[in-house]
Amino acid sequence: MSDRDTPSHLVRLPQHVAVIMDGNGRWARRRGLPRHLGHRAGVKAVRATVRHCGELGVDYLTLFAFSSENWSRPRDEVVGLMKLFLDALQREVAELHENNVRLRFIGDLSRLSERLRRGMRDAERLTRENSGLSLQIAVGFGGRWDIVEAARELAERARSGTLDPAELDEQHLSDSLSLAGCPDPDLMIRTGGEQRISNFLLWHAAYAELFFCDTLWPDFDTDALEQALTWFGSRERRFGRVETLPKEEAS
Ligand code: IPE
Ligand code: IPE
Ligand code: MG
Repeated sequence: MSDRDTPSHLVRLPQHVAVIMDGNGRWARRRGLPRHLGHRAGVKAVRATVRHCGELGVDYLTLFAFSSENWSRPRDEVVGLMKLFLDALQREVAELHENNVRLRFIGDLSRLSERLRRGMRDAERLTRENSGLSLQIAVGFGGRWDIVEAARELAERARSGTLDPAELDEQHLSDSLSLAGCPDPDLMIRTGGEQRISNFLLWHAAYAELFFCDTLWPDFDTDALEQALTWFGSRERRFGRVETLPKEEAS
């Protein structure tokens, strides 16, 4: 298929899409419902997004489900979210595995219940060899936490003599972060109308294209995803270089 025949959102498909799934609470409030029903509705949007990214051939999808700062929410909401994560894990993993999805959890999982952590480890183990969409779910994740953990690991290596501080470079740091082995996100989407990163992938967002939309996360459907992908296809990514001119102008 030539570029002309390809739907515009597929001309230049991002290899790695990262999503800040925001707006569940407001979605519920607008319907006069409690916040937890917004979170529950958000799971459906996760399912649709994962399926569609897999079908389109996106290689990596990273979803921000719960931030390190979200621990400060009311206890009821946190407990409800943890229950929802466990339910979703138990309900979805078999189908994800069938669809060849490789699942990984990133974040400080130490505050999660043993049961949830075990479920996450089992899901990672089950899907480890899958070769389809690589799906990272960020839980208890903070970009700063991630960088501090990497710094600690590198400092330990320096102390034990296996790393020369003079040799430390960006690759060392990348390789010590939670997303080691994944390319940086090309496209970062935030739903829910806020235009901020809220401590998500701070290191990795260096050259991500940032797409902010007002759609509340539970309403984020395949059309909304395709809008983001179409927008991405129209971006010129320069990475600090100058714009690329068409061949005839350049010669
Ligand atoms: C995102 O939706 C889900 C989590 C942060 C867990 P919110 O719960 O932040 O929804 P709003 O922003 O209050 O609408
Ligand atoms: C960001 O949303 C975190 C997730 C979507 C998991 P928040 O709702 O926590 O972010 P702020 O508080 O509006 O910055
Ligand atoms: Mg929010």
